[in-house]
Amino acid sequence: MVSRRQVIVGSGAALAVGKSGINHAESALIRRVPYGACVNRVALEKDVDYRAALKAYCQQLTPEGGLFWDGLRPARDQFDFSFADAVLDFAEANRMTMRGHALVWYAAMPGWTKEISSAAEAERELATHIERVVARYRGKIKTWHVVNEPIGDPEDTVADLRPSVWLRYLGPKYIDLAFRLAHQIDPSAELLLNEYDIESVNDISPPRRQALLRLIRDLVSRGVPLHGVGMQGHIRGKDPIDGNGVYRFASDVRSMGLSLHVTELDVIDDTFPASVIERDAMVAERARDFLTPIFAAARPSVIATWGITDRYTWVPTWFKRRDGLPNRPLPLDATYRPKPLWQVIDYFCQRNAA
Ligand code: XIL
Repeated sequence: MVSRRQVIVGSGAALAVGKSGINHAESALIRRVPYGACVNRVALEKDVDYRAALKAYCQQLTPEGGLFWDGLRPARDQFDFSFADAVLDFAEANRMTMRGHALVWYAAMPGWTKEISSAAEAERELATHIERVVARYRGKIKTWHVVNEPIGDPEDTVADLRPSVWLRYLGPKYIDLAFRLAHQIDPSAELLLNEYDIESVNDISPPRRQALLRLIRDLVSRGVPLHGVGMQGHIRGKDPIDGNGVYRFASDVRSMGLSLHVTELDVIDDTFPASVIERDAMVAERARDFLTPIFAAARPSVIATWGITDRYTWVPTWFKRRDGLPNRPLPLDATYRPKPLWQVIDYFCQRNAA
């Protein structure tokens, strides 16, 4: 099914119906890579232009934070699904799908999880959580970011992994456990690892990329139900994209039979020039440099950005500009006008590579 949105933001080709009765423009659009964005809670509730933008551009949505432990489980026995449900309702009402982000993350943990003090307790909480959350959205959330950001920094890793309550009490097998449980609860769901900082020319990305590949290979070789990999794509503007590294990574993922997803694209522009024209061009160029090797190696399942408009973005939380100007990391500006970044994303979504 081709949705109205895909037609609106599609190639712009007239929807000519040929003699055969097949709508050729539509059949071309069927192969369009879906575009998605994460959804800001307050904006969804209060900003009518925001809702209109999501409807006009997106085929997929990800609740921003609504499925993290701190939002979902303010207390050990209390689950608050209100925001995730609201995003799902909005998605379904507008013929979009919703992605699940994320079942396991080292961060955004509620205070009570600090009380966890044994392997048995950790396993029990992890199982309760995954069973409850995956079951609630069974058949509705078709793609889950099961473990978010598993790879650690060099100085604080155990077997490449980032410290968390799960690693502490369960060791690296917490990852197996999470995937196996999620698969058991919803065997039809596509289960992903999701990771950041693996795409740049700098000292950080290559070892992180290698560590992630080691983890992926290990999980696949042991038959853990891992189906795909999310490249978040919070692109550090100050560093160029490592085109060869990204191409090799995407090829390796694909050669293992896994799907590839761009899950949280934005371009961190804190070091870019003040000029809006120059800056927007540089943001678009970085995204193009990132997407080109990905599409050369594999057709991703989605291009999702972390937000849709510069009006609502997490980037200034960590990457404020020194000149005090607002960041411009996303496809639409703060007044919902599409920027060069949108043209890049739209171009790649229309490509039928690999
Ligand atoms: C950020 C959100 O945008 C914030 O609202 C939240 O409080 C903290 O996290 N990688 C991720 C996202 O996987 O969940 C993060 O999102 C950005 C980095």
